[in-house]
Amino acid sequence: MHPSLSRPRAVLLAFAACVLATAPTRAAEPTAATPIVIKFSHVAAPQAHKSRAAEHFKALAERYTGGRVKIELYPNSQLYKDKEELEALQLGAVQMLAPSVSKFGPLGIRAFEVFDLPYIFAGYDELAKITEGDVGRDLLAMLRAKRLIGLAYWNNGFKILSANAPLLGPDDVLGLKMRIQASKVIEAQMWALGGLPQVLAFSEAYQALSSGVVDGTENTPANMYNQKMFEVQSHATLTYHGYLGYAVISNETFWMGLPVDIRQSLERAIAETTPVANRLAFEENQHALEEMRASGRTTFHEPTPEERAAWMAALLPVHDEMAGRVGRDLIERIYAATGHKPPTQ
Ligand code: LMR
Repeated sequence: MHPSLSRPRAVLLAFAACVLATAPTRAAEPTAATPIVIKFSHVAAPQAHKSRAAEHFKALAERYTGGRVKIELYPNSQLYKDKEELEALQLGAVQMLAPSVSKFGPLGIRAFEVFDLPYIFAGYDELAKITEGDVGRDLLAMLRAKRLIGLAYWNNGFKILSANAPLLGPDDVLGLKMRIQASKVIEAQMWALGGLPQVLAFSEAYQALSSGVVDGTENTPANMYNQKMFEVQSHATLTYHGYLGYAVISNETFWMGLPVDIRQSLERAIAETTPVANRLAFEENQHALEEMRASGRTTFHEPTPEERAAWMAALLPVHDEMAGRVGRDLIERIYAATGHKPPTQ
């Protein structure tokens, strides 16, 4: 093993080299007896809406291709964690993923972190103008530079903040170690609150919260519930300060090498799954909040208008601060497309 490689990374690279060495440059004509296998890996729990959306896609994809494609689903980071799954996709060890768009920065595509800017979307209608419009399409096209294909956006929802003490305003985050996804915009957001951001893989978040490695986090109610984070967080505040959503992606060489009719059938299956995925996510976020409230493990706080104004005042300067990273033109395009320019100064 190369001394600079960790064992999982070395295994991944060895496996990928083997896949690349044995993969035919042009696949033989697939049949129901010898289907094309698509490994679809992701980090969400098997019961989570992302899993159910992936199952919906699998059923449609296999039906529309007459069984000439077989989708194998690998949820719950069982194959790869956050960063490794992107490497595995680029190397061809898996063929589809649906990572959070907050995780593309480390790949070198910083523009996706625009989705992480606090309060950039006032709600789902504004969000849809981006994910279903030109800006969203242009962002997906940027993935080609990394030999990836962006196929669709699937929502999770809007994030809330949690810790083991009440979070009534930014001052309450001061000095808290907060688990975040690997996004420099989310990092800047936590610094803006006086918190100490710690990037951790999703699969490690529960353990880190439970053992006190970190004090708090932000996530959607659905993720907080499905990962059982509510069992180890006594307080949460319904700030809904930022968006968490996914891009369904594939490896460009693999996708463009598919027979045209198969590719079109898969694209149809994805397009038809997207509204279902978004509905499942919306419902699950509501349900998760009800369940967590009923459990009594976490106290949920709804900010007053004054508290909400204080969160916004602390967080909105992040738009200007991170404009150099994500692109001021892109931010302005989003303001124009949504019709909403928050006061960032
Ligand atoms: C997270 O890391 O918190 C999320 O991106 C996980 C997910 O896939 O919803």
